[in-house]
Amino acid sequence: MAESLIFPPEFVFGVATSAYQTEGDIENDWSEWERAGKLKEAQARCGRGVDHWKRFDEDLSLTRDVGATAFRISLEWARIEPERGRFDEAAIDGYRQRLLKMKAAGIRPVVTLHHFTHPTWFHRETPWHEPACLDAFRRYAKVCAGIMDKLDPLVITFNEPMVLMLGGYLQGVIPPGVNNGKLAGLAIANIARAHMVAREEILARLGKAEIGISQNVLAFAPDRWWHPLDRALTHLASQNYNHAFLDALCTGKLRIGMPGLAAIKADLPGRDGIEFVGVNYYTRAHLRFVPKKPYIEFKYRDVHKRGLTHIGWEDYPEGFGQMLLEVKRYGLPVWITENGIDDRVGDRRPGYLYSHWKQMLEAKQRGVDLRGYLYWSLLDNFEWLEGWGPRFGLYHVDFKTLERKPTPACEYFRRAAHSRKLEAPVALATL
Ligand code: FCB
Repeated sequence: MAESLIFPPEFVFGVATSAYQTEGDIENDWSEWERAGKLKEAQARCGRGVDHWKRFDEDLSLTRDVGATAFRISLEWARIEPERGRFDEAAIDGYRQRLLKMKAAGIRPVVTLHHFTHPTWFHRETPWHEPACLDAFRRYAKVCAGIMDKLDPLVITFNEPMVLMLGGYLQGVIPPGVNNGKLAGLAIANIARAHMVAREEILARLGKAEIGISQNVLAFAPDRWWHPLDRALTHLASQNYNHAFLDALCTGKLRIGMPGLAAIKADLPGRDGIEFVGVNYYTRAHLRFVPKKPYIEFKYRDVHKRGLTHIGWEDYPEGFGQMLLEVKRYGLPVWITENGIDDRVGDRRPGYLYSHWKQMLEAKQRGVDLRGYLYWSLLDNFEWLEGWGPRFGLYHVDFKTLERKPTPACEYFRRAAHSRKLEAPVALATL
């Protein structure tokens, strides 16, 4: 009989979204990228998203209905500053109103300033590899601080900076589509500095705030457990991909060293730059050394025969526990800022929640200062590289009519959030 889970009363259950993936009708670097036919499916467009900009009130009720008391949204820089130096008051007020409505509904705003996307002028005028990006981000952060003022938000400056660097500046598979190790190094160092700069602006306005980033963490493992080079890669990836950026924000020193990439070494203007560690965990990756550039082969393997999730990722809750124990080293509160499953049928999600929550509670017992869990995502939405195939939502969205319908996981999530005690879902209970 699978054991019941008991959640402490102060533990926060919430849900996560991002602007571009949900709001609709946003002109930014991603919409340009799509029109240039650069997605896997050249025809895919985010377009009206799931119309979250107009249906915010309805979506806020859905958030309440699953018992969530925190709601992660992102501010879309392209809406707020559509032309360099011109700030759109209607967009700014629109976001402010949203945060006020959350507060009024007893829901704590979790606000991301940067979730992968940029205004269309950004890469042309003040790209991340140029020092001018810092002033641009500072001005934007100052406006964001005004939007969040007096609302006690949890603030995430950057979502998954390493993903932005690897995808956008090394592999060139997401905007800005650069493939250049030197520029990648300059960019990631400036992103770390931009965090510090944004932090200054936010603290100046809000006085006190909880500020962090969302770090994508992967449980790395050697593809051939016995192979010294696979093992060395695993070790390197874990330090450089999972930890180097967080280390930089804590110590003021950014140090990244990966095979095939010139060492990145940069100093930041300050240290102790985060109040919490935001963890985005989805899966494990097996690494294999290959004797030609980029020297790493990356695979998702179904080691435990649980079935890869629909997007092709390993379902590996044990890695979640492992990652949470790893981030204990920062000695800071930890928020799960994303975790979820692409389940296109909807029957697997409760089991996924159970197994991941079990790991989370075990990590908590082992001293990880876990404060809350934000499920990715409240709603099905546009997935960056895959377009409209994946379904991560607690709520199913009919992409034609935009109607939202609860999946079985809504009831399961609500039970955890409300009763604080949870049995394994029926399919797992007999294991
Ligand atoms: C994360 C992203 C989020 C979403 C999930 C599935 O890496 O931060 O926007 O796409 O993956």
